Amino acid sequence: MRKIFSIVGISVFLSSCGGGERVSKEVFEEVNEAMEIKKLSEAEIIDEAMVWGDSISMEAQQQLVSQLQQAISEKGIPGAIEFCNVQALPIFEKVGKPYGVEIRRASNRYRNPADQPSDMEQRYLETYEYDVENGNPLSPNIQKINEGEEFLYTKAIVIPGGLCLSCHGEPGKEINDETLKVLEELYPEDKAKGHKIGDLRGMWSIRIPKKEVVKRM
Ligand code: HEC
Repeated sequence: MRKIFSIVGISVFLSSCGGGERVSKEVFEEVNEAMEIKKLSEAEIIDEAMVWGDSISMEAQQQLVSQLQQAISEKGIPGAIEFCNVQALPIFEKVGKPYGVEIRRASNRYRNPADQPSDMEQRYLETYEYDVENGNPLSPNIQKINEGEEFLYTKAIVIPGGLCLSCHGEPGKEINDETLKVLEELYPEDKAKGHKIGDLRGMWSIRIPKKEVVKRM
């Protein structure tokens, strides 16, 4: 036992000048130890992370749509834009916090420039774009990132119905003038109009730390 302690001690000491790397090594060792104690394989953890991604994205989607519907019924569509614009992030934070994950949406036809994809996200978006164009079935993906410390879960977001088109459809047809005016004011570079039902709107992108998954297994 003492030997194990000293090995851990030395490795922490050796890497302590490396700033962020030190934390990384400690997390790595902590996760490895937990995996051994619980007898977990890498494949089991990936499967579990996939289950997390599926249920977290579904929960975020449900909360978003129900709050959006409520805002539309209370304030009309132009009023709901401002609500949606301010409220999406707190919803994602609230849903993600209990799991220790980071939730966002990414799109090449983004409305909010903050939803532009990273290089890594871009690869998955392109796969979904290809699949939608070719009528292939859409399945979620999970990838190890950050030297295996985290998983990136992605899932396509397709326009399911008319509700979305009142803000993402054709201006003058599905998007009324009043709504268009508010959208133009808030999002001068909006690329998220002109959609049809069945179009790819973007994707969920959820970063899941491996240690959070292992902790709860
Ligand atoms: C009331 C208007 C409104 C409706 C209805 C609406 N959206 Fe949006 N949507 C927005 C706004 C505004 C944003 C930008 C939010 C922000 O600033 O974070 C947005 C952003 C998004 C994004 C993030 C990517 C991006 O473009 O920035 C996705 C994905 C999305 N909407 C999908 C949908 C889907 C799917 C539906 C139907 C279930 C829907 N929206 C219905 C107004 C709406």
